[in-house]
Amino acid sequence: MKTITLHNKTFEVFIPETEIAAIVDTIANNINSTKIKDPLFIAVMNGAFLFAADVMRKITIPNAEISFIKLASYSGTETTGEVSELIGIGQDIKGRNVIILEDIIDTGITIEKIMSLLEKEKVVDIKVATLLFKPKAYTKKIHIDFIGKSIPNDFVVGYGLDYDEIGRNLPHIYKLKA
Ligand code: IMP
Ligand code: MG
Repeated sequence: MKTITLHNKTFEVFIPETEIAAIVDTIANNINSTKIKDPLFIAVMNGAFLFAADVMRKITIPNAEISFIKLASYSGTETTGEVSELIGIGQDIKGRNVIILEDIIDTGITIEKIMSLLEKEKVVDIKVATLLFKPKAYTKKIHIDFIGKSIPNDFVVGYGLDYDEIGRNLPHIYKLKA
């Protein structure tokens, strides 16, 4: 198995790019079939940048818009347990149908923070789409509407996901080698 090294840690291929493309197609098709009116996608930076770009190209619902927020909770390969808001929504989203695009939902503290930020803005509806989900780490009750793939509690990098800011450009998703 082909491995790579990032910051002295070894990673092996976990989800190859062909499988990622199939997962993205399924999520986009599922979102399209909801026919949500004038959807406003909100991608969570930095991790969701590739996922958001690929999903958006497959969205066929009329008047789809995209915006970005930036939050961070991870340091190295561990969650810090606190979420900091680095860039806010920056536009009026009152009355909108929002679809959040996340790279990965782990403990859920980030998505909980985003929900509490958006609920203050009087949006009509919020749906959540995530490429990856770690069910064993999830501690929150927020319903996740679109899940690409549920994975074990392994640390993963690539396709937008980072290990201390590197590895986001990798086309495959890798996991930390045991
Ligand atoms: P949560 O707040 O614990 O749900 O974590 C969500 C955020 O932590 C994600 O948006 C990622 O930025 C980051 N994260 C969680 N798990 C991983 C991982 O395995 N690799 C890289 N980043 C991760
Ligand atoms: Mg993220």
